[in-house]
Amino acid sequence: MGQRETSRRLTHSSAIRVMHWIGVYAMGCMIFSGWEIYNASPSLHFLFPAWTGLGGWLGGALAWHLSAMWLLFADGIAYLVYGFASGHFRRDLKPPRPAELGQDLGAALRFRLKHHMGHYNAVQRVLYAGVIIAVILQVMTGLAIWKPVQLGWLAGLFGGYPIARGIHLAIMFGIVAFVLVHVALVMVHPRTLKSMIVTVPQRSRKADERPA
Ligand code: HEM
Repeated sequence: MGQRETSRRLTHSSAIRVMHWIGVYAMGCMIFSGWEIYNASPSLHFLFPAWTGLGGWLGGALAWHLSAMWLLFADGIAYLVYGFASGHFRRDLKPPRPAELGQDLGAALRFRLKHHMGHYNAVQRVLYAGVIIAVILQVMTGLAIWKPVQLGWLAGLFGGYPIARGIHLAIMFGIVAFVLVHVALVMVHPRTLKSMIVTVPQRSRKADERPA
């Protein structure tokens, strides 16, 4: 791809932007209604603060959880199909080489990691690919504990109902941790937020790296 063409590419396609925000809404509904469901029958020795629950009571929370699940499911399938078919995953979320990851991770820990618009660094690529896999596993464990009889094979794949429920809870914490780090990094680089909302033409990586 020539330099001119690269610089014209949009930072995020409108499809990615729409699917990202639908996913955020659906995931938000899933997490907060999930906390309300957990509080009705906690498997560990803690409760989520009552005011954070969505749905008001167990029945309401289940209705929110199951409705948002279909939205997340449809959004996720559309995102995966688009990601593979358009070449977005191959181009933008390519697994980094260990040396590249080590370098970017070191820079991130020293708060020296540069952000180039339209290009994900190795840490971002690993985090984004990780959260995509986490959401897939979250949906699978969710289906396993929702229909443990009809989908007994799926529950069995995760080691049975109690273990699948434990994994579902653990992945939720992982996704919440991702969101906290993700939003903190967006606050450090607020121009990325604009690019996830409106169309922003991408400057080439080379142009971005040139000193001002
Ligand atoms: C459930 C919560 C969230 C998940 C799972 C999530 C996941 C992701 C993923 C996978 C990407 C890469 C998308 C791609 O290029 O295919 C991304 C990008 C992005 N997300 Fe999120 N996100 C979440 C919440 C948020 C929130 C709350 C914000 C805003 C404060 C946000 C702002 C952004 C921005 C600005 C980018 C682009 C970053 C860049 O261009 O460097 N995300 N997110």
